[in-house]
Amino acid sequence: MVSAPAQDTRFRLGEEQARALAEQYGTPLYVLDETHLRTRIRRYREAFQACYPDVDLAFASKANSTLAVLAIAAAEGCSIDVASEGELRAALAAGVPAGRCHLHGNNKQLEEIEFALDQGVGKIVVDHFGEIEALGEFHRERGGLGVTQLVLRLAPGVDPVTHEKISTGQADTKFGFNIADGSGERAALRLLELGLPLVGFHCHVGSQLLDPEAQRSGGELIARFALRMKSEHGFEARYLNVGGGLGVIYTDQDRPMPVEEYCRLVVKAVTRALEGSGLHPILGQEPGRALVAESGVTLYRVGVVKTVPAKEVGTRTYVAVDGGLSDNPRPAIYGSRYAIERVSSPATATTKDEVLVTVCGKHCETDRLFEASVPADIAPGDLVQVLTTGAYGSSMASTYNRYPRPATALVRPDGSFSLVQRRDTWDEMIARESVPEDL
Ligand code: LLP
Repeated sequence: MVSAPAQDTRFRLGEEQARALAEQYGTPLYVLDETHLRTRIRRYREAFQACYPDVDLAFASKANSTLAVLAIAAAEGCSIDVASEGELRAALAAGVPAGRCHLHGNNKQLEEIEFALDQGVGKIVVDHFGEIEALGEFHRERGGLGVTQLVLRLAPGVDPVTHEKISTGQADTKFGFNIADGSGERAALRLLELGLPLVGFHCHVGSQLLDPEAQRSGGELIARFALRMKSEHGFEARYLNVGGGLGVIYTDQDRPMPVEEYCRLVVKAVTRALEGSGLHPILGQEPGRALVAESGVTLYRVGVVKTVPAKEVGTRTYVAVDGGLSDNPRPAIYGSRYAIERVSSPATATTKDEVLVTVCGKHCETDRLFEASVPADIAPGDLVQVLTTGAYGSSMASTYNRYPRPATALVRPDGSFSLVQRRDTWDEMIARESVPEDL
């Protein structure tokens, strides 16, 4: 069931703010609103807590691992899901205690595991049999894993309705242990046999889920798995994490389920399955996008507006912004669409009519970023904001075509701005390289 959102929950800049930000920091610029982000996190946490007594809301830091964002998420009570040593180091640098971090990864390097154990990471989410044996080795060598607990990543075998590149819970996936073919059970038993501190189970079925059915059934399946592990093997799960994945509003057509409804649905699936079992695990979720995507925009300046002949449609108007593929690869990878709004109204603005254009970037690629409606008199020099870019923008940025990655400005609750990530400098863009002397 998909329901309409009560309102447009996306953050957007006002004209004055946008002008001031562009003047102070230049464009392209990622902008995040602190109050919006805190409010999103609180709403999620309260919705989750309202339907279950003991919850763990983790922020999936892959969505945005800017230190300021990690600090805000931690201050709002989130634990932090890290998918690499780099993300763990970022969380530590942001002041998050290691004990509040969960380390994921389908192919963790021994060094990554060792670093995490040395730091006292809270949980390691175990993904394959080789990792179990490696953890067994560490356990033997160190006389235990210290404070670190282990959670088994399960592939519940559900196919979510989302882009195939961001669905992870189906049977044919590189992540975790399949439940149906018995791998999950064998993995759990091996962990227990080695005396490793297994505390529970995890699944993540996919991202940008606008139809939450997959998430619901993922939750139900791992709860049933926990039930079976208790009845058949006497193992009592103390922790179940059903992953992230709730969708957000990218365009007016997106209708994500309100978080309150979503939490009720997922929690009900788990608690129904556990009814009468005597199991009362901590219930975890680890959303990334749902917490931070709508709190951010990317501010660009329009450079070129060009209308060209086009097959089938007659003509196509390209609106080129001063960024693109390197600050937002999502349209190229997933065919993602966004809403773009003009934030400056030049004196020359004459009309409120909208036209459909193709927004493109400045990279040496045929990068039609996405199609969107813009004012018919959009012109070079206009400032525009692309909404819903707080997640998987800065964290997926590259320096393709040797464009510096944009800065991130944080709009503080008092309306002031803080530069929380500066733009790459020209010097550091080439700092890693050298030319052999004989060249
Ligand atoms: N937990 C796990 C184990 C995950 O694999 C993911 C996302 C999340 C949590 C957070 O999912 P979210 O709530 O943000 O949907 N780069 C892609 C998304 C890749 C997501 C992979 N895993 C994008 O730009 O859409």
